[in-house]
Amino acid sequence: MGLEDQVIGVRRMGRQLLMVLLALVTIFSSSTFVLFASGQLLHPLEVTALNAIRGSLNDPQNYLQNWQGNNPCALNWTGVICDSSSDDGYLRVRELRLMNMSLTGTLAPQLGELNYTIYLNFMWNSITGSIPKEIGKMNYLQILMLSGNRISGPLPDELGFLPNLTKFQLDLNQISGPIPKTFGNLEKVQHFHMNNNSFSGQLPMELYNLSALVHLLLDNNNLSGYLPPEYSRMPKLKIMQLNNNNFNGTQIPDSYANISTLLKLTLRNCKLQGPVPDLSTIPGLYYLDLRSNNLTGSVPTNKLANTITTIDLSNNYLSGPIPSSFSGLPRLQRLSLENNNLNGSVPSTIWQSVNFSAEATLTLDFQNNSLSDISSLLAPPVNVSVRLQGNPVCTSTDALTNLIQFCGTPTTDAESPKISNGSVEGGCKPQSCPGSGGYEYFPAATLPCFCAAPFGVGLRLRSPSISDFRPYRDYFNNYMTGNLSIESYQLLVDSFQWEEGPRLRLQLKLFPPQNETDFNLSETQRIQNMFFNFKITGDNIFGPYDLLNFTLRGNAVIFNPSGKGGGNNASKVGIILGAVSCAIALAVGIVVVWHLKRRSKQQQVSGGRKPTPKIGLKIEGVKEFGFEELEKATSGFNGSTQIGQGGYGKVYKGVLGDGTTVVAIKRARQGSLTSEKEFFTEIELLSRLHHRNLVSLLGYCDEKGEQMLVYEYMPNGSIHDLLCGRHEKAASLGTRLTIALGAAKGILYLHAEADPPIIHRDIKANNILLDSKLTPKVSDFGISRLVPKTTDDETDDGYGSYGESSSAPISTAVKGTPGYVDPEYFRSHKLTEKSDVYSMGIVLLELVSGMQPISHGKNIVREVSLAWETGMMESIVDRRLGPSYPRGCAYRFMGLGLRCSHDDPKARPTMSEVVRELEDLCSSMTSSDGQLEEGDVAGGKWSYGSAPAMRSGNYRGGDSGGGGTLTFVSSASAGGGFPDRGSDLVSGVIPTIRPR
Ligand SMILES: *[C@@H]1O[C@H](CO)[C@@H](O)[C@H](O)[C@H]1NC(C)=O
Ligand SMILES: *[C@@H]1O[C@H](CO)[C@@H](O)[C@H](O)[C@H]1NC(C)=O
Repeated sequence: MGLEDQVIGVRRMGRQLLMVLLALVTIFSSSTFVLFASGQLLHPLEVTALNAIRGSLNDPQNYLQNWQGNNPCALNWTGVICDSSSDDGYLRVRELRLMNMSLTGTLAPQLGELNYTIYLNFMWNSITGSIPKEIGKMNYLQILMLSGNRISGPLPDELGFLPNLTKFQLDLNQISGPIPKTFGNLEKVQHFHMNNNSFSGQLPMELYNLSALVHLLLDNNNLSGYLPPEYSRMPKLKIMQLNNNNFNGTQIPDSYANISTLLKLTLRNCKLQGPVPDLSTIPGLYYLDLRSNNLTGSVPTNKLANTITTIDLSNNYLSGPIPSSFSGLPRLQRLSLENNNLNGSVPSTIWQSVNFSAEATLTLDFQNNSLSDISSLLAPPVNVSVRLQGNPVCTSTDALTNLIQFCGTPTTDAESPKISNGSVEGGCKPQSCPGSGGYEYFPAATLPCFCAAPFGVGLRLRSPSISDFRPYRDYFNNYMTGNLSIESYQLLVDSFQWEEGPRLRLQLKLFPPQNETDFNLSETQRIQNMFFNFKITGDNIFGPYDLLNFTLRGNAVIFNPSGKGGGNNASKVGIILGAVSCAIALAVGIVVVWHLKRRSKQQQVSGGRKPTPKIGLKIEGVKEFGFEELEKATSGFNGSTQIGQGGYGKVYKGVLGDGTTVVAIKRARQGSLTSEKEFFTEIELLSRLHHRNLVSLLGYCDEKGEQMLVYEYMPNGSIHDLLCGRHEKAASLGTRLTIALGAAKGILYLHAEADPPIIHRDIKANNILLDSKLTPKVSDFGISRLVPKTTDDETDDGYGSYGESSSAPISTAVKGTPGYVDPEYFRSHKLTEKSDVYSMGIVLLELVSGMQPISHGKNIVREVSLAWETGMMESIVDRRLGPSYPRGCAYRFMGLGLRCSHDDPKARPTMSEVVRELEDLCSSMTSSDGQLEEGDVAGGKWSYGSAPAMRSGNYRGGDSGGGGTLTFVSSASAGGGFPDRGSDLVSGVIPTIRPR
């Protein structure tokens, strides 16, 4: 099941071919950037090895697209962590973390060349082939994790010669053959997780040498032979989990009663015979599962350790009475003795010494035995369920008739113990957090509720020693927060679910410290590292865990492991981003050319008409998502994941199957033709448009009558959110200018660089989104129009036809949003680029005034014009800019907005003029050293508030330093959006700089 989650279907051949092409292109494009890389080089042999490793993998999701060039360390190749500790001056690969990336292909023998590597993680991919014996040469290797792939073939003996290996995880593969005897040499190995493979043959006795071994997990294989009694000599063994193997007809060694460190023994369904051993000598046993064997004799009468939570002896051939020793077990959660031949009387006191907290339960399953009488009235507390069906006692006509209630058919499946799933309600019962930044109310009841962005961690406990999680929730909280060194209020167990095994899947939310709304980067990395490196240790009950995913919200970022070098990475990052984006742009270029070619062919075929969009539309460069995938990403389009709503439908926030990619999913209202048309327009346009200031379409879904678009997620909402109170600290004028400039550039790209040009038609504050760095991205192309070469296109199908750039107006039905629609277009139905300029003008006016386009019957253009004409500009400037904003600059900004929103299109500037003027304005606010300057008006310097990008301030140098932490206003004060101007018409300052 877990595996299924991870495996994403292999894409079509054509697409793969294209990917190869793209890979080639990116190789050529990014090699130039290597010139900029600085610092030490990776050892050439390791570079060669990495390239070979890459060469034998397929990377359908392009996680490894930055594996280009010959300097993996400087270019931060995904998943490669370098180390400089070797003394020949070269860097070495220290860790290789390629988990959960949908990789296919095989493991290259050249892995053996990475002989300084200590950490190798390929978990949750779809890698095939066998394990190369060369891995046995990785002398420093400590952690080898290949879980959750499709690796087959036998285990090479050579792996037994890894002297430093501590964690050895190969579970959930198809590896066959015997466990090599050489593994007895792995004297440092602590974790031996090999379950769910096809191992066969005798368990090698030699493993008793594993003096550090803690977890021996070999369940769900085809092992045969006998259980080596020598294993009792392992001095640290805590978990022995061998269920679902075939030790045909052999016995459980008595010596196992001497494993004094043992916490959990599961030998379920192993075809074992003979008696149940007396394990009362094991002082800390939590969990004993011997279900579904052929065990005979009676149940041992000695009392097991007080720690025991679960005893499962069901489905055997046990006889004799149920011993009274079960009555002294304070932590007992489940005693399963069903389907045996037990006789005597029904015990009626087993629960007497159990400590029932509010949520604790106890299940006593005695079904289908030969229990024939009852010693006293059966009156368990409500937390206890007793099952007696199929015993003679149920048919007796005894006076103690209260038995009837325990004799019915249990409502839950008798095969599986009563196991609950659940979720946890926080102490807060809020409505919802403002905005769309992934914020949630802080759950801890002891604190006043406030909004913060948690990050999610999906864990699966592989071998928990409990049957009911609920009473252990607090305990888990202490254990986890103690390990992570965070406060206990910061952790919420959001949900939990039992899976086959039994294993326990947990979804955690970690909240930032009190009074902070986001984790800072260093803290995020620290915590993720704790999980990645399995530093959550020290508990006996919860056992080993699988890390399934991280779900990041708000400003949090997935920690892409990349050396632990100091804090001067900014330029390096820039270079890398440059390289990556350039490579992407090139790749996309290819896709677009290819796609356009293909499209024009189609058009020829269909006589110039657009092909009828229908299910199965294929657009390269844009991923096609399955409905299930998106349904899962949003917890079934759960209301709590909804972040927006429009005429088109609802917008949800989701986390893709890789567990890391946060996306916004726009789901069309079903059955709406308009929505359908907008759907295809948007895919068509966005798949060929790529600009820093346009939102990126990641993919779409057209399945089951549903149409959805998947975008990169914009944690800072829209300009509208920025202006309307989501952010308590008002954005400074400099920030607003920068945003305006970015948005204008995005629109200019549509007008001047897209071919054919595009008129957006719905520019508004709500459609200009802000990413984590407040970079504006123009979105919502649903009603955009291509500018056709002819003007006889009267249909409003949203497509037009391709042709030369032209500014001839398109005649079309008027669409757009009230308050933003160009009055000239409204009158004449003639659409030109100047209509977008008008709408942009409104956005500029909003940015400078904080007003909305139409509010309480006031029109923004009229209000600002009035102030402008009477010299009362100050009265209309957003009061949240404070008293000391650079006035001249603000007034020029206002003037530009007014000219853009002029009634007469000819009087409006073009978009390129808008960009030029905004650039000019921005540079006038930047001092010579490129830093934004602070000062006061009286001193003649422009000031525009504190941190220019509030939320990114947290992430520049690790800790927040200069303030810049975002806080939220209560919803009561968030409503206004623009200042009350009435009392403020006092200063009448004459602007020092007149707009041109
Ligand atoms: C391991 O194998 C068993 C038996 O085939 C299966 O029921 C179980 O789901 C598997 N475990 C996982 C985690 O997939
Ligand atoms: C958190 O904020 C509340 C309300 O503003 C304040 O009373 C409290 O002292 C703050 N706590 C910390 C730890 O800063």
